[in-house]
Amino acid sequence: MSIFRKKSLETLLAQSADKDSGLKRTLGSWQLVFLGIGAIIGAGLFVRTAAASGEAAGNAVTISFIVAAVGCAFAGLCYAEFAAMIPIAGSAYTYAYTTMGELIAWIIGWALILEYALGAATVSIAWSEYLNKLLGGNIPYNLCHGPFESATVDGVLVNGMVNLPALFILLALSLLLIRGTQESAFVNAIIVFLKVAIVLVFIVIGWSFINPVNHTPYIIPENFPGHEGFFQHGWGGILKGAGIVFFAFIGFDAVSTAAQEAKNPKRDMPIGILGSLLVCTVLYILFSHVLTGVTPWADFNDPTKGKEASVAYAISTYMAGYGWLATAVTVAILAGFSSVILVMLMGQSRVFYSMSHDGLLPKIFSHLHPKFRTPYKSNLLLFCFVGIFGGFIPGSVAGDLTSIGTLLAFVIVCFGILVMRKNDPQAIRPFRAPLVPFVPIAGILICSSMIISLDQVTQLSAMAWMVVGLFIYFGYSRSRSKLG
Ligand code: ALA
Repeated sequence: MSIFRKKSLETLLAQSADKDSGLKRTLGSWQLVFLGIGAIIGAGLFVRTAAASGEAAGNAVTISFIVAAVGCAFAGLCYAEFAAMIPIAGSAYTYAYTTMGELIAWIIGWALILEYALGAATVSIAWSEYLNKLLGGNIPYNLCHGPFESATVDGVLVNGMVNLPALFILLALSLLLIRGTQESAFVNAIIVFLKVAIVLVFIVIGWSFINPVNHTPYIIPENFPGHEGFFQHGWGGILKGAGIVFFAFIGFDAVSTAAQEAKNPKRDMPIGILGSLLVCTVLYILFSHVLTGVTPWADFNDPTKGKEASVAYAISTYMAGYGWLATAVTVAILAGFSSVILVMLMGQSRVFYSMSHDGLLPKIFSHLHPKFRTPYKSNLLLFCFVGIFGGFIPGSVAGDLTSIGTLLAFVIVCFGILVMRKNDPQAIRPFRAPLVPFVPIAGILICSSMIISLDQVTQLSAMAWMVVGLFIYFGYSRSRSKLG
């Protein structure tokens, strides 16, 4: 029984042909681009941009966005090749199962838990920040922060206890998923429209409030107080900033999970994946340029200033006369975050479902509700798991773990293209990533350097997570695998 046993491409395609009768091919390239943007724009832009700027990159967070986007584009090209070649409701997990075998597929599936489950937790924490802002900061500090956070409120040091709003939104959306309420394309389109509109309005109105003084120096200089570490200033800081804002791009890979619903997956998948990435990159660079121009970046490090709900803070503090915009932005952000959380929770339960179907996880993860036909037990377990992070862990910790898990999955997907080109050069490839091996190798290098730039606690926690995963694989999954 080899740990490198693979699902054959033919088996997968046959499975997909079977399922074709069930899923309607209704999505065109524009809808896919919309789907991508719906999953992409969220806490990464509205929360992590400020964190990256305050902690590591300063104004040069714009360059961090470019670095992260280039890494994503290379990985995205590899994703697109797989998505067009294996056009089934797949994910990096499925691709790995055909190209690199079961163990690597398991590792990816395990890393994807960091991406989807912790991603949902991160956005739920961000949701809580903005809700508190909307309610005028009236939620008691200890009820909207976990036990590892503290702050001085009215001159008194207060410790966090539990993040109730984060738990609330996670529970509400988990129940919605159990009911099987599919986000209709229509609702998704409205939310996407709202999100993009808010970003554009902020860019256009904020542009006239840019204070050039805030933009100098552009890169945090060496020996800047509190920024002595290599990854806290200069180009090292930009790289770390890229690792942090990378979170903002997570989700474009979600387009690949809709491959079975695309009208013409061979053409539309690459357009959907790369198109949504391109639109978001342009928006992100402009947005972060305006945000750091309006607000001195050091404010983003200060809990009494713009460390939380940074965009609303920037508007209400530095853009006189636009109080209404701060409120509108906050409401749009809350709606936008909800859709991201929903996509992530759904993505996670799909990955669990596939892994359970393949015998690698217990059956409970693929039990369907008798009436709603949704994996309800999986959704409830997932809520408990995600809730631990959303309710009790700081957003920055959950966010960085999400980034590292996703980066790991991207590295493996790039690697998968190299393996597949070598082992199966004849397979039909409706979309070919250009300049192979340059593109996948560059993708591996850029994503790996972002992994290295993240802090040690994140790296060690991710490593511990992966070790636990390996124990489970060898102790449980390997002997129960259906392929075995
Ligand atoms: N990219 C998504 C976000 O920023 C995960 O919220």
